[in-house]
Amino acid sequence: MTNKKAFIFDLDGVIVDTARYHFLAWQKLAQQLGIEFTPEHNEHLKGVSRVRSLEIILNLGNIQASQEEKDKWLFDKNELYLSYIVDMDQSELLPGVLDVLKFLKANNQYIALGSASKNARPILEKTDIMQYFDAVVDGNDVTNAKPDPEVFLRACQLVFVAPDDSIVFEDSLAGIQAANSARMKSIGIGDKEILHEAEFNFPNFTRINEQFLRSLIDA
Ligand code: BG6
Ligand code: MG
Repeated sequence: MTNKKAFIFDLDGVIVDTARYHFLAWQKLAQQLGIEFTPEHNEHLKGVSRVRSLEIILNLGNIQASQEEKDKWLFDKNELYLSYIVDMDQSELLPGVLDVLKFLKANNQYIALGSASKNARPILEKTDIMQYFDAVVDGNDVTNAKPDPEVFLRACQLVFVAPDDSIVFEDSLAGIQAANSARMKSIGIGDKEILHEAEFNFPNFTRINEQFLRSLIDA
């Protein structure tokens, strides 16, 4: 009998190195507003929605703003971010990701996206990996941001797999917490210190071998 699991991937910082571009765009806005914004601050923005990210930055600078101002800053940040990803192609996939997607597809597993980003679909198209995904759930589809598990629960529902047969790859603490509260297996990709709540940790996908993936499929 074949086991069919749902492998749910976060996007930014897991499939592509866009976490860097989000950081650069927020940093530029913070600079304009006279707010100091460091890579440490940025950890709190990973996995978090665009609107919530702006709130966190404004809180850092103790800045009150009208809705009109906030809307303008959100628009400007996204325009700058889009300018960074306009020429993105498959070469920007993070090392080892494509091999893992191919292995899971060849082994008849479900693959889903679970991302907070509203820019997720164009990135899957630009990097030419949309065909690997059986389901895509992104920032346009959910109301509750990570660490709420909504994004991952919707992803596993779309492929009719139970949460405890689902596995999440995440680079953010909020995302690991979301996976854990959904009772899914959580796999941290990145800094083990930051992602210590994950069930498994790997610095990147090149360190995940077929034996490990097989053990997840057969569990
Ligand atoms: C998450 C990123 O995946 O998406 C956050 O980790 C980002 O940094 C969020 O703010 C929202 O993305 P977007 O593309 O809708 O602004
Ligand atoms: Mg991420």
